[in-house]
Amino acid sequence: MSTLLQDLEQLRQEASAALAQTHSTEESEAWYREYLGRQGKLTGMLRGLGQLSKEERPVAGQVANTVKVALETALQARQEQIKQIEIERALSAEGIDVTLPGRPQTVGKLHPTTATMREILDIFGQMGFQVYDAREVETDDYNFGLLNFLPGHPARDMQDTFFTTTPDVILRTHTSPGQIHAMREYAPAPIRVVLPGKCFRNEDVTARSEMMFYQVEGLAVGRNITFSDLKGVLLNFANMMYGEGRKIRFRKSYFPFTEPSVEVDVDCILCGGKGCRICKQSGWLEILGAGMVHPTVLQNGGYDPAEFSGFAFGMGIERQTMLKRSVDDIRYFYENDVRFLDRVG
Ligand code: DAH
Repeated sequence: MSTLLQDLEQLRQEASAALAQTHSTEESEAWYREYLGRQGKLTGMLRGLGQLSKEERPVAGQVANTVKVALETALQARQEQIKQIEIERALSAEGIDVTLPGRPQTVGKLHPTTATMREILDIFGQMGFQVYDAREVETDDYNFGLLNFLPGHPARDMQDTFFTTTPDVILRTHTSPGQIHAMREYAPAPIRVVLPGKCFRNEDVTARSEMMFYQVEGLAVGRNITFSDLKGVLLNFANMMYGEGRKIRFRKSYFPFTEPSVEVDVDCILCGGKGCRICKQSGWLEILGAGMVHPTVLQNGGYDPAEFSGFAFGMGIERQTMLKRSVDDIRYFYENDVRFLDRVG
């Protein structure tokens, strides 16, 4: 009996010492098999209990059980330690390389067209122009007739139109029909509005023309509005949009809804007028069309042309962006290539 107890104590000491020498999950599992497993040393000893007398058995059994519980508890504690060691070992092996570049956080931006449109509306806003929202789907009358395009007028051919299945209902080819809507809403009060929005033309898509594009229209109507007012407003716009000191020039032109009509150029923002590739050696860049509102159009809007006068202008938003940001192909705008949107936006 006493030898069995001594053996148990010895086994406990031996097992404890061996456990301290385990350094991995595999080693601790091997230790379990050696001492506590089915074929293990302690299990072998417990089998020996059967040979003891009835009186000795409970005492020895209790001691053996204490040893077993103590070793199991010790194993659990050791395995916890080993797990920590293994995590640390894995971390230092697979460690994070803090010198690698991080993943960039991509931030959304305004679309280039939106950004330019806001810039333009802000400039005219400072000159007292309010934004007037007009429709994209129009009648032939608003888009052409009321703007003094007569039926069969060759100017209609300048703006290839998208028709709908409803007779006379079309997609607007320019923002000018908004002039009639604004005048009819406000007549006979004075007006100072800008009308931004989408326009559509059934054109071949090229580096210079898209089927869908944006314009901003401007309209001022009042009792004493002169061509000088138009010049002042547009010169101020050119300076705020393209930089202080910009010059503008007016070239005579023709639009059915304005008389006189002009096209307006700004001195080349790249070469300052000396002549370069961008301005095709002319020193000037065309930025918009404008003119004094035609008497017939004033009348169609509900204003008496004997009492009222007005000016109007219209510009392509993508064109302004292209000039300002050196973009040479309008097709980039709506292809939605993030590299373009990111650079130009
Ligand atoms: N609507 C014309 C176009 O799309 C641009 C334009 C020219 C608008 C002269 C105007 C203007 O208001 O006065 O080509």
